[in-house]
Amino acid sequence: MADILVLYYSATGSVRSLAQAVARGVDSVEGMRARVRTVPKVAAVVDKPAPAVPSEGAPYVEASDLAECAGMALGSPTRFGNMAAPLKFFLDGLGPEWARGTLAGKPAAVFTSTATMHGGQEATLLSMMLPLLHHGMLVVGIPYTEPELNSTRSGGTPYGATHVSGSANDRPVSEEETKLAFALGKRLAAVAKKLTT
Ligand SMILES: Cc1cc2nc3c(=O)[nH]c(=O)nc-3n(C[C@H](O)[C@H](O)[C@H](O)COP(=O)(O)O)c2cc1C
Repeated sequence: MADILVLYYSATGSVRSLAQAVARGVDSVEGMRARVRTVPKVAAVVDKPAPAVPSEGAPYVEASDLAECAGMALGSPTRFGNMAAPLKFFLDGLGPEWARGTLAGKPAAVFTSTATMHGGQEATLLSMMLPLLHHGMLVVGIPYTEPELNSTRSGGTPYGATHVSGSANDRPVSEEETKLAFALGKRLAAVAKKLTT
């Protein structure tokens, strides 16, 4: 069994739902398994530190997860056309892993959620790729051979999986969005499997 790290931040649950679909796609590839992890919130002023272990949901990522996994899917809500600070904060602490080449040559994929249809999904996905390229990762997207890329009326892009959550954050992940997130996880795991065997 080889693991794929599905690392996400989600404040209100939309990106977490996408992460679950990506993880199911990873698990659909024989011999591959999703390792789902999250990051704690960050704040300029801290009343009390985040618990060492989250009270619910995915565990917090550790540096060892990066070394142990054969690839990584990275997910964040869109914040003004960019990734959210908690995920960026984690990535900014990866100097030692960059110096050691921990992620070099491993495949990666990105996913995001926005409130609005044209609220910056592609900009967020492209900017999330930049640190991954600095680490030497091989970024994979979603090919147009996935039929839902042509039929979706909400999220789903060739740059990565996406969801449009609505301005009240009340839209469930659509069938097309789910299928495309699954396809991304499956493709990432299949590429990682080829690269490691
Ligand atoms: C500070 C802030 C900035 C945001 N910026 C954008 C944006 O640029 N475009 C957009 O469509 N939605 C934006 N949103 C909405 C979130 O991206 C959206 O609700 C997302 O689905 C939340 O994901 P989550 O439920 O996983 O936290 C923003 C939300 C916050 C709190």
